[in-house]
Amino acid sequence: MNLTVFGIGYVGLVQAAVLAEVGHQVVCVDVDEKKVERLNQGFVPIFEPGLEALVKENHAAGRIKFTTDAAAAVKHGGIQMIAVGTPPGEDGSADLKYVLAVAETIGREMDSPKIVVGKSTVPVGTCEKVKAKIAETLKARGRQDLAFDVASNPEFLKEGSAVADCMKPDRIIVGTNSEDTEAVMRELYAPFNRNHEKMIVMDVRSAEFTKYAANCMLATKISFMNEMANLAEQLGADIEEVRKGIGSDPRIGYHFIYPGLGYGGSCFPKDVRALIKTAEGVKFDAKLLRAVEERNNEQKSVLFDKVHRYFKGSLKGKTFALWGLAFKPNTDDMREAPARVLMEALWKAGAKVQAYDPEAMQECQAIYGLRDDLLLCGTKEAALRGADALLIATEWKSFRAPSFDAVKDALTTPVIFDGRNLYDPKVIARHGIEYFSIGRMAA
Ligand SMILES: NC(=O)c1ccc[n+]([C@@H]2O[C@H](COP(=O)([O-])OP(=O)(O)OC[C@H]3O[C@@H](n4cnc5c(N)ncnc54)[C@H](O)[C@@H]3O)[C@@H](O)[C@H]2O)c1
Repeated sequence: MNLTVFGIGYVGLVQAAVLAEVGHQVVCVDVDEKKVERLNQGFVPIFEPGLEALVKENHAAGRIKFTTDAAAAVKHGGIQMIAVGTPPGEDGSADLKYVLAVAETIGREMDSPKIVVGKSTVPVGTCEKVKAKIAETLKARGRQDLAFDVASNPEFLKEGSAVADCMKPDRIIVGTNSEDTEAVMRELYAPFNRNHEKMIVMDVRSAEFTKYAANCMLATKISFMNEMANLAEQLGADIEEVRKGIGSDPRIGYHFIYPGLGYGGSCFPKDVRALIKTAEGVKFDAKLLRAVEERNNEQKSVLFDKVHRYFKGSLKGKTFALWGLAFKPNTDDMREAPARVLMEALWKAGAKVQAYDPEAMQECQAIYGLRDDLLLCGTKEAALRGADALLIATEWKSFRAPSFDAVKDALTTPVIFDGRNLYDPKVIARHGIEYFSIGRMAA
């Protein structure tokens, strides 16, 4: 099938590559000329396991193309997929300017019937706005004769395993009231729907809402667990024991109940805020979601508070080794990463940071540029040298079993502040290192 994808970001690029891999002809269009140019030269702008090879192979085979020529791109696809960003506006609600700009482009350039598919995470009612924008643009051209439909098809990929998630989706949500559109969507996704039925078809508004409800549920689990962790510290309980104890209940399960430094990334923070705003719009007080967000904002400071207390408030002139910059492992994404809050608080207190991350170093450089109080180190060992303490903000696999003796030797003060509970406190104690983690010991 011929498909056009608007927006070559985490969602657009991964989904396009996966759809090309199964044989669809995909044209990807973006307004970022540099990104398109570099993709055409074979440079994949984001890190996702398996993505680079997939993009390069399908590009070489001519199944995926990258362009800034929106007019030609619209003409290519019977399906027009919108995967542009929906960042938070000033008040926290989702800013739809990119989505609606694409709708206008489609209305302006289409010359044959189209099915427009909303992949971006958008508030309930957005597909109706997209429909109205296309209809208005067609009317201005005197081309109301051109048929189109707008369906919702929210994306559930997880950064860090995005390719695998799109290759083997848990579910494919399609929001449409049209049997014809449903049939086209079934054909598009048939290669991913062979093992068992994964497509769940519903009305458009419910599909749009499903995405927010899913992300808010996951964010709630994280904030709940962080609240329990903070309370466990006060009560002298060990949250890691509690986690296993509750996870063993199949109604609760082990997934997504790890205490830590709060959720980050490009989705949970903005989607929780956006749903709170959507609720306000219909005069509904989303009390639970407000608490989820508040807990998360506080959680991002928990490790800094422990460091601050340990060094009795005097951090000026100290140097801290920081392992992990990305908001989670297997990605280079630092959007709303807890590591940023931590670093910025350390800088504000007059401390320096020696940081290492397996993938996010370039991203960190791009965000913060060159500064005297940030040293980006080539290895996790180099980050330790001469530092006053080790701080851990991301649970990369390569951080899980370091040589604790080497850590101890490299640090000026043998102390680890672990925001991800990677280690067994008894093991660390045996190595003569002080250890502070989340929900296990008051510090
Ligand atoms: N990142 C994730 O893990 C994830 C997962 C599921 C859903 N989502 C949702 O998917 C959407 C996209 O997220 P993302 O992380 O891929 O965003 P992103 O910021 O990585 O990419 C968006 C791309 O859209 C491009 N763009 C903006 N306006 C455009 C236009 N008029 N025409 C063509 N391209 C345009 C930008 O230049 C950018 O390259 C968001 O709504 C997000 O909430 C993201």
